[in-house]
Amino acid sequence: MERIVSSRVGEEEEALETNLRPTRLEDFIGQNKIKERLGIYVQAARQRGEALDHVLLYGPPGLGKTTLAYIIANELEKNIRTTSGPAIERPGDLAAILTNLGEGDVLFIDEVHRLHRAVEEILYPAMEDYALDIVIGKGPSARSLRLNLPRFTLIGATTRAGLLTSPLRDRFGVISRLDFYSESDLEEIVMRAASILGVQIMPEGAAEIARRARGTPRVANRLLKRLRDYAQVRADGVITGEIARDGLRMLEVDEKGLDEADRRMLLTIIEKYDGGPVGLDTIAAAISEETETIEDVLEPFLLQAGFLKRTPRGRVATRLAFKHLGKKPDPGLDQETFW
Ligand SMILES: Nc1ncnc2c1ncn2[C@@H]1O[C@H](COP(=O)(O)OP(=O)(O)OP(=O)(O)O)[C@@H](O)[C@H]1O
Ligand SMILES: [Mg+2]
Repeated sequence: MERIVSSRVGEEEEALETNLRPTRLEDFIGQNKIKERLGIYVQAARQRGEALDHVLLYGPPGLGKTTLAYIIANELEKNIRTTSGPAIERPGDLAAILTNLGEGDVLFIDEVHRLHRAVEEILYPAMEDYALDIVIGKGPSARSLRLNLPRFTLIGATTRAGLLTSPLRDRFGVISRLDFYSESDLEEIVMRAASILGVQIMPEGAAEIARRARGTPRVANRLLKRLRDYAQVRADGVITGEIARDGLRMLEVDEKGLDEADRRMLLTIIEKYDGGPVGLDTIAAAISEETETIEDVLEPFLLQAGFLKRTPRGRVATRLAFKHLGKKPDPGLDQETFW
């Protein structure tokens, strides 16, 4: 089944994302505190002619971590080299990447919580002292050699800061958490994307998308793209408020932006487990999703929108979830956890 709101990026979507990515800090909409701070750090590093301190960006998928990494490199006027935690298989692979960086360059490691242990250990002296410790030979005759690296900036991105080891986390000088976007920021993002894509949209249509985009720019852009198709085939190509509502109904994205997968998860908790609490593994098995997908993609929005609660005994559907899905709580419900 096609996932409208929840999934990660597919290959076909990558080109679209690249086109829509703002390249300057001033074009990056929302996240004002992060933007202001990064702007200062970047300018200060440039004035001193030094490398920017290492930056960790974390938050749910689609909020702009990769975008910001590219913006930072661009504002520094330095090259960016991109890789991801699981893609670096051996310490030697990372050593090769590091020794090929230029002075002040940016190394962007996506999914930085998934670095292999032995690879991560190479990073510690690299981040702290711009040095690479290599061991030559084996056994009693082995010698350790220290190589100097160019001063570089590591930008790490993760959806799960909690999974980072503390030695790694401690070596980032700047740690920024991206939050879900407000409706008005998303409206602006939709209008900007529409003008880049040449899509005709009315403010009311943009507002409708913004309301249902789960606080996430990637979702907003994706809905825009789907509604462009809908408007083209079913109407005269203009995304009005009404066309947006009709199209979103067809996509089964409801008024709160929940899609089929979100509703299935909440309904399972409500109908099979009396609203919870129920463990993550049990939910995952019941709805045939990976626990990781639930934790990374579905849950963050459901928690922040108040549909779900996390308790020590498991997940609980809130009163709001019951109401939204037209369900009545069982009178015998465990009141303490529920209310
Ligand atoms: N502040 C913003 N202003 C305008 N567009 C944005 C903004 N943030 C993100 N976008 C758009 O949303 C898309 C997704 O952003 P991005 O790829 O940076 O998210 P991410 O946090 O790296 O996600 P993931 O965790 O899945 O890697 C981008 O293509 C970009 O077009
Ligand atoms: Mg990314």
